[in-house]
Amino acid sequence: MCGIVGYMGHRKAAPLVLKGLQRLEYRGYDSAGMALYENQVVSLYKTQGKVADLAALSNFKDANQSIGMGHTRWATHGVPSDANAHPHSSNSGELTLIHNGIIENYEALKKLLVGKGYVFHSDTDTEVLVNLIEEVQKSHQYQLGKALQVALSQVVGAYAIVVFDTKKTDELVVAKLGSPLAIGMGDHEYFIASDASPFIEYTNKAVYLEDHQLAIIKQDRPPKILSIATDTFTDYYIQELELSLDAIEKGGYKHFMLKEIYEQPRAIKDTYRGRLLVEEGLIKMAGVEEHLDKFLNTKRIIIVACGTSWHAGLVAEYILEDLVRIPVEVEYASEFKYRNPVISNQDVVIAISQSGETADTLAAIKLAKEKGAFVFGVCNVVGSTISRATDAGAYTHAGPEIGVASTKAFTTQITVMSLMALRIAMAKESISVAQFKEIVNELELIPQKVEIALLLNQRILEIAHTYKTKHNCLYLGRGVNFPVALEGALKLKEISYIHAEGYPAAEMKHGPIALIDENMPVIVVAINKGYYDKTVSNIQEIISRKGKIIAIVTEGDTTVKELADHVIEVPETMECFSPLLTTIPLQLLSYHIAVLLNKNVDQPRNLAKSVTVE
Ligand code: F6R
Repeated sequence: MCGIVGYMGHRKAAPLVLKGLQRLEYRGYDSAGMALYENQVVSLYKTQGKVADLAALSNFKDANQSIGMGHTRWATHGVPSDANAHPHSSNSGELTLIHNGIIENYEALKKLLVGKGYVFHSDTDTEVLVNLIEEVQKSHQYQLGKALQVALSQVVGAYAIVVFDTKKTDELVVAKLGSPLAIGMGDHEYFIASDASPFIEYTNKAVYLEDHQLAIIKQDRPPKILSIATDTFTDYYIQELELSLDAIEKGGYKHFMLKEIYEQPRAIKDTYRGRLLVEEGLIKMAGVEEHLDKFLNTKRIIIVACGTSWHAGLVAEYILEDLVRIPVEVEYASEFKYRNPVISNQDVVIAISQSGETADTLAAIKLAKEKGAFVFGVCNVVGSTISRATDAGAYTHAGPEIGVASTKAFTTQITVMSLMALRIAMAKESISVAQFKEIVNELELIPQKVEIALLLNQRILEIAHTYKTKHNCLYLGRGVNFPVALEGALKLKEISYIHAEGYPAAEMKHGPIALIDENMPVIVVAINKGYYDKTVSNIQEIISRKGKIIAIVTEGDTTVKELADHVIEVPETMECFSPLLTTIPLQLLSYHIAVLLNKNVDQPRNLAKSVTVE
């Protein structure tokens, strides 16, 4: 969480940093700040609130400085406030620093610094870090880079930081451990950011700093990258990015979330493009291919993920078990490492993460690797920490997901996991050639069917009007659509702040049915597969208690139509792919309710897109 931006070059830094912060605001929006620097003078601006509040503090267009840094914060240590906003200065005022991450031993370090006479003006761990660097610098007469290296060796935690020193008029120093940091390589200009979106219109060349690396950036020469542990300068790889400006802008939609919901047909197609070779009856996935023996020989697969990605993992459990006939366990990554799980080098662990930066998922990966498991990553963000920390992997190709509520990540994660299941099943011969063909033919049709499901938008808007004032909502589903119920409930609560719960439909009678009365909307996924009749019985039970039913059914359904207050019909498909369609109306329903309630859909309160703290 938190977004950082830095610039050194020949342009005016202020507007560039502000625009960069706006693009990174998905990472946190409790406060924003900027420091501009020239001729040994630092101008500092910071405020509680959003980047727009920061922009209102001054006429930044007139600021001529060409070195600057900015920060948008997701609060960890200390409430959102002006004082806790970054950048933070050292006591002498000579060092200025922005930080994404957490310094876990900050209290001990703070005590030490207070003992030496340092005074603190905020509750943040970051202010401790900047003063620690100052203390190292002063006591050893070190240059900034060396002081930072020594200070960081005393720090426990995670960081991506940018710091400048008023004694050095032409230098920015950056370092990384755990949190992401990219350096955009322009022509005699350098950009620093949590991801490439702040600089993509200026350069498509980027260096992603590795953990335990520090870079010294000067305008007149390429950056020097130092390994903090070995104290040696290292070579680095300059990546050519494929990110386009269109992909990170709203493109005429009112919100990123809506744009991303509508992008799903394209995103799903991009995810299977080049992998699903229908004519040849093949699936090609390099990451799976190269390690097929691991998947074929394992006795079980463990999926670790958080939030929406965990829901995609639950859907994948059904598909993998059904097609591959290998037992699958799906774990909250956040719980995984706290219960001493039984893992060995016989196990395959699949980590699913849109951002590829989620700290809990990363911690689970580390543990699984320590225990010798083969770890496979399913990520969306190319080059992200998780994609690099895993033994192999497959990207989802959803394109940047900027709305904090995950949408296209979910459907593309299911697509990747389906492709994997099919590839492994084919190698294992756990499905016949005819079954394989039937399934891949259907998968190819999914984007078209998602387009049809998106046509339901107007109808869903009407339903949203009816239910927008409710305070509670239940979501029910069975089988592969139980995770869809969980995901529908998560979407509603995170962006509209309406309390919502997802349950397996059959669990209703074991408790939640007590909640049903005429004020309780119940959203039921009741497609014509699997346990349809049983789901219909559950609907009857709810109606008997006067609950209001919004049913997601298969096109042409007649039974549920008779019973439900509202019916939303999605195209017919195989049960395994039905989540790719049933989830669409649920995403749209949450979106419309949140918009009608005037909530900030793309940046819901208290949340951030990449959760880089455990
Ligand atoms: C919900 C949402 C979160 C994320 C979760 C995991 O809409 O976005 O629940 O799914 O924080 O994030 P990733 O997938 O980036 O690991």
